[in-house]
Amino acid sequence: MTDAVVDEIDGRMIRIGDRWLADFASCNYLGLDLDRSVIEAVPAFLDRWGTHPSWSRLLGSPVLYEQIEQGLTELLGCEDVLVLPTITLIHLSVIPILAAGGTVFVDRRAHKTIYEGAQFAAVRGATMKRFQHEDTDDLERLLREDRSATRLICIDGVNSMTGNAPDLPALHELARRYDAVLYVDDAHGFGVIGERDPDELRPCGLRGNGVVRYFGEDYERIVLVAGLSKAYSSLAAFIACPPELKQLLKTAAPPYLYSGPSPVASLATVIAGLEVNEDRGDEIRADVWDKTDRVLRCLERLGAHTPNRSGFPIIEVPLARGEDIDAVGRFLFERGIYVTLAAYPLVPRDEVGFRIQVTAANTMAEIEQLVDVLGELANTFDLQPTRRLQTPADAEVAA
Ligand SMILES: Cc1ncc(COP(=O)(O)O)c(C=O)c1O
Repeated sequence: MTDAVVDEIDGRMIRIGDRWLADFASCNYLGLDLDRSVIEAVPAFLDRWGTHPSWSRLLGSPVLYEQIEQGLTELLGCEDVLVLPTITLIHLSVIPILAAGGTVFVDRRAHKTIYEGAQFAAVRGATMKRFQHEDTDDLERLLREDRSATRLICIDGVNSMTGNAPDLPALHELARRYDAVLYVDDAHGFGVIGERDPDELRPCGLRGNGVVRYFGEDYERIVLVAGLSKAYSSLAAFIACPPELKQLLKTAAPPYLYSGPSPVASLATVIAGLEVNEDRGDEIRADVWDKTDRVLRCLERLGAHTPNRSGFPIIEVPLARGEDIDAVGRFLFERGIYVTLAAYPLVPRDEVGFRIQVTAANTMAEIEQLVDVLGELANTFDLQPTRRLQTPADAEVAA
């Protein structure tokens, strides 16, 4: 289940060679990649703008960028937004600028692309320090000892492996207390979780406006980065930041000056996706929540451990014996289930297993097929047994 050539798709079913599989590896959480209103919105944009602007953003940006940046600013409730092609490009260019030769504190389990940005900052004279995942005491110890003038704390929002959100209020408080900036990559939370409200349909909040709003925090001392390539099914990403930083990045961040832009079709699908989000995003998120819940309840019934304690649609299933990974991959593939395999060294040895992602475009029939296959799998291979992880410290001990 790596490097597959997908010959055809039909909804969230994919054909690889002569085998059809239910796809639980897609990050198109809201199913906007297959949404008719999004697809049908694209040709009019192509007629008007051609397929590709092909200026660097510094040279010229179709007005579509302004529309998207304004729409995102309003949705997030932040000061301003800058759109660039990918999160990877943002990390590589923005982390070194924000680190400014000071110290970058990186969560040990932060996404690989954050590390790349931090390593690039280190090449430019910054010091990189790592703190234990979900351990604010460890971070505080490092912050207390640190004497540098600039401090940047880099974390994931909703974590791409565990599906859990960080303790953002505690981390934000540390950033305030130690005069640091909190840099959050919410690739998997934006579009999926949002502001809490007594009238929310499910505990993922409303509007999908990301992890900062989910926790009711403000953006003071927080730089939020997220992508539009997951929940919004479009090749683009953004950074939510104060206007002065946006202005600085326009001349200091290489992707704004030198990189090609997002294709027009992607700008169009962001604009159409924001409209869908406004009209029926909360119903879509409720559907994703319910489908995810069905899978989580199945694992619970099977007595199988998953680190997911959030209910968000990323469900990692670690194996009792990591060496079973190849056989488990084959077992799932032969039964028509496509997932992301998490092999060593991509994850620590005791977390080798697979990751299920649930999207709105997965049908209930596909979810039931997954549930049946997970039952068969648990009869054939040993999954890690359910544990009660009460605190992050317990989780570290268990790991
Ligand atoms: C947490 C996280 N950050 C960054 C990325 C990379 O995003 P992009 O494709 O926009 O560079 C990913 C992609 O999977 C991700 O999961």
